[in-house]
Formats: sequence, C-alpha cells, structure tokens
Amino acid sequence: MTSTITAASPAKSATPIDPVFRQIRDLVYKVCGIFQLEEKLYLMADACGRRMKHLSVRTPREYWDLLTAHSSREAELRQLLNEVTIGETCLFRSPPQLDALRKVILPELVQEKTKQIVKRLRIWSAGCSTGEEPYTLAMNMLEESDRLLKGWTVEILATDLNDRSVETAKAGVYGDYALRATPELFKRKYFVQVDEKKLEVRPEVKKLITFSRLNLQDDSRMLFMKGMDLIFCCNVLIYFDGPSKGKVVNHYYSNLNFGGYFFLGTSESLLNLNDNFRLVHFPGSLAYWKPSLKSGKL
Ligand SMILES: C[S@@+](CC[C@H](N)C(=O)[O-])C[C@H]1O[C@@H](n2cnc3c(N)ncnc32)[C@H](O)[C@@H]1O
Repeated sequence: MTSTITAASPAKSATPIDPVFRQIRDLVYKVCGIFQLEEKLYLMADACGRRMKHLSVRTPREYWDLLTAHSSREAELRQLLNEVTIGETCLFRSPPQLDALRKVILPELVQEKTKQIVKRLRIWSAGCSTGEEPYTLAMNMLEESDRLLKGWTVEILATDLNDRSVETAKAGVYGDYALRATPELFKRKYFVQVDEKKLEVRPEVKKLITFSRLNLQDDSRMLFMKGMDLIFCCNVLIYFDGPSKGKVVNHYYSNLNFGGYFFLGTSESLLNLNDNFRLVHFPGSLAYWKPSLKSGKL
C-alpha cells in the first residue's frame, strides 16, 4: 500500500510511515553511509516529501521508481542527498584545535618534512559543508606564511557530498551566523564587505583551496586521496553507523602520510574504530597521529 505525502506533511505524527521510505532510507545508507534510525524515519519522509513536491510526484512508490530507474537515478539521488545531509558549521568552530595545529602540529610537520625537496603541505577538509572549515584552515595557514611556512606551498582540498554546499563554499560569502566566532582581526584581514550583511573571503584565501564533490563512501575515489599531511573530518562521522565509519577511517589512515594528523569534531572519537592511530591530547582538543617512520613506533 502507498500513500501520498506532501512537503507540508511532517511525518512525525501518529500516521504510520509508508514502508517505501524505509526502502529509500536503506538506499541512502548504501550509497553514502548516512543512517537514520527507525524513530527518525520521518526525517527521510520529510526530505523525500520536499523532492516529491518539487517534482509533482504523488506517491512514495512513484518517487522510488524515479530513484531507481536507470535514466533518472543518479541525478535524483544527488538531489535527495542534498536534502538529507545536515551542514551545520561555522568559521573558527574549534579554536583549541587551531591552537594545537599552529603551536604544536605545524612546527612538528615542518621539521619532519624540511629535508624534502618540495616544501608542500597537503590538507583535506572532508565533509566541508559550505566551506567555513577549509577557509578557517586557509586563513590560519596564511598567518604562518611569513614565519613557519615561509617558502612552503599549502594545498587544501575541501570536499562534500552535497553539491549545493560545494557551490556555496566556492562563492565564500558569509553572513553573521557563519561569522559569529570569527576574530575581528581575521574579518578585517581576510574578507571584503559585499553588502551591509555579508562578507566575502578574499581571493588569496580562496586560491589555497580546491573544492569538489566527493562521497566518502565511494571507495574508488577514496583510494586516490593519498599524500595528505592533515585530514579534518569533523562532525561528519556522527551521521554514519559503525561499519561505514570504520571503512572511511581506514581510508583516512592510508591516505595520510606517515607523521600526519587526523582530526575529528570535539564530541567524536575513534574508539573501537581504528587501533593504528595514536591518540594525542592537546589543551581542549585531541587529534590522531599516524606514527612516522622515524619514530620507530610503528
Ligand atoms: C555537520 S557538517 C560538518 C561541517 C564541518 N566539517 C564542521 O565540522 O563544521 C557534516 C557534513 O558532512 C557531509 N557528509 C555527510 N555524509 C557524507 C558523505 N558520505 N560524503 C561526504 N560528505 C558527507 C554533509 O553533506 C555535511 O556537509
């Protein structure tokens, strides 16, 4: 049996949820690792409802056909994933992480890599949402460009599943909410005023970052993300279940250079996910280290 759902029908009601939404929930999980518990199935129904309204599709079954038909499945799945993902973020979201990065980790990485012919640092912001995290990293790297990173090239790769977020990230225009934790000094130095309410990231900051769409559950793409010195995957794994988290974290381990560091969000941990990383504590934050060959602690 199928029923009609509209965008205006918040499914968190006593009405039983159409079983087709369960099928869609499982499809979304298979494709991108985002898992919704039974009690949160109404969120999937809401997301589908918005797409169905947009497409003037009347029933969940019809929508399922669109999501699985050869001619439409890829494009429609992308659109649905844009509805399902949660992109909450802001600039300077975790100052203790930035302190650890600039005061301890960068000096260590620079020293470790200093004998290399090419002085290059590669950073990956995985699950970058609308770009606030990679821009924060870029500005902090620029702050070090006359000191610690003099003569170094910094490349930041910023990826997300949601292609609307990636487009917003490329534009780099932010309002008060995104900028709420940004120090005044950084606002003055690295942004230009667009209008009364919005600031745009300056070109020299944008230049450091390459944005692209990437699904962290896409093994074939993940295999080609090698050679990273730092990986930030903050507040992303919380949407995955254990097996999806484990798979992504194993990729991160092999994508990091020896001596590189991996960061999670402040409320996340790698407990029971990967024993190869070494947990390192910093004031107010922590990071995971891939032991360097020189450390003899492999
Ligand atoms: C809460 S935001 C985190 C943004 C930023 N990292 C931060 O900590 O402020 C989570 C992001 O993860 C992305 N995401 C979820 N599943 C993903 C997947 N399978 N592949 C890539 N990105 C994914 C979402 O699109 C969303 O932008």
